[in-house]
Amino acid sequence: MAFAETGKLVEIKLETAWQTIDLAQAITERVAESSGFEEDDIHKIAMSVREGIINALHYGNRMQREKTVFLDFVFEPERLVIRMTDEGNGFEASHVDDPLSEENLLKTSGRGLLIVQAFMDDMHVGRGPNGGAELTMAKLFPKRFEKGEEG
Ligand SMILES: Nc1ncnc2c1ncn2[C@@H]1O[C@H](COP(=O)(O)OP(=O)(O)O)[C@@H](O)[C@H]1O
Ligand SMILES: [Mg+2]
Repeated sequence: MAFAETGKLVEIKLETAWQTIDLAQAITERVAESSGFEEDDIHKIAMSVREGIINALHYGNRMQREKTVFLDFVFEPERLVIRMTDEGNGFEASHVDDPLSEENLLKTSGRGLLIVQAFMDDMHVGRGPNGGAELTMAKLFPKRFEKGEEG
């Protein structure tokens, strides 16, 4: 678990371009793998980052090339925290339509954040230093050494 020494931080600056989506996903897979996560969790974490990055590029940076997305990995003692910050106007999670309510069920939009919520242990929408959206998500490290506990 060389990568996952507690307190270590990895900061990545990504350009606003389509290739950034696959790149961010691939980087996340490597970081999650090096942190000791199993295949299933690696996939969930990488898919969550993919959804977050797509939103950051599309809704945040509006695909404007000169804008940037920051992707940070923070290794806390018990969990991997991933933060994505864009240079858009930000948004309030409470203002987003609930994709599970009856009138929204047939809409194809609105499932990205739902995926993040389902796949990660924690999710938070905040604002970055420049007013853009800051999506924070966290996944608990696998408990390998504790017997008699689920998960
Ligand atoms: N980085 C962002 N900046 C601004 N608004 C965002 C951002 N990410 C998400 N949103 C808002 O939250 C909504 C829900 O996002 P999501 O669940 O991924 O659904 P979808 O991308 O299909 O619209 C978006 O429609 C958008 O209004
Ligand atoms: Mg989305």
